[in-house]
Amino acid sequence: MTDTFTLPDAAMKLILDRRSIRDYTPEPVSEEDLAKILEAGRQAPSGEDAQPWRFIIVKDAEARKKLGAIAGGGSGRRFTSEFVTQKMQERFANLKDEAKKKAAFEKLTSGQVSAFLAEAPVNIVVCGKKHVWDMPFDTSAAIENMLLMVAGLGLGACWVIAPCIDIRDEERVKELFNIPEGYKAVSIISVGHPTRSHRPRPRLPIHELVFNEKFGEPYYKKPEEAQA
Ligand SMILES: Cc1cc2nc3c(=O)[nH]c(=O)nc-3n(C[C@H](O)[C@H](O)[C@H](O)COP(=O)(O)O)c2cc1C
Repeated sequence: MTDTFTLPDAAMKLILDRRSIRDYTPEPVSEEDLAKILEAGRQAPSGEDAQPWRFIIVKDAEARKKLGAIAGGGSGRRFTSEFVTQKMQERFANLKDEAKKKAAFEKLTSGQVSAFLAEAPVNIVVCGKKHVWDMPFDTSAAIENMLLMVAGLGLGACWVIAPCIDIRDEERVKELFNIPEGYKAVSIISVGHPTRSHRPRPRLPIHELVFNEKFGEPYYKKPEEAQA
């Protein structure tokens, strides 16, 4: 029997069901599902309706392997600098298990954490027209739309910026996929069938995020104050 949802409930379910999936089975993503994902991206809002996004579908195993290697390199350098500047030690301050901490540091600084692109049956390379002012926001809206459709289809995806942050990596991505000079490689969305279910990552409490009229003035009470 299928569940029935009101539209707001369905929207919230999609939002809550979406999470970053980095492990995929080898099962391909059907063309039907892919078309729905891309249509969700195409329907995203954009400043002045500029629609500066272009999407490259990458299924070729060799290209995916190269993309995974570029992502791993970029990610490894980023986390290595976080390690050197102590930022990572701050992030992991609450992790008391030294062995686990060492393994996490190694996974991050080696770049292994982002190399999973090679294993995703499909990667969508999101490109954006450089001269469009709102392009970073426009492409982000398109990406989120696609991620929500992925969740609705029961598939898994991850928004991966690792191979596009460092200009040298981005140049490698552009060369690999013949992306012309007027476009930026913005991000990759890896898509596939998840190997397992994942727990949600934590979010900041709403009372820390929402302000009343002026920044810093709480709109919501802390849970313990609300009960009092
Ligand atoms: C702009 C952006 C860039 C991201 N880049 C990467 C990335 O390069 N590699 C990766 O593994 N995850 C990446 N992610 C996924 C985040 O790590 C993930 O969204 C976050 O930890 C929250 O987890 P959740 O998506 O499961 O809720 C990125 C997410 C966003 C929004």
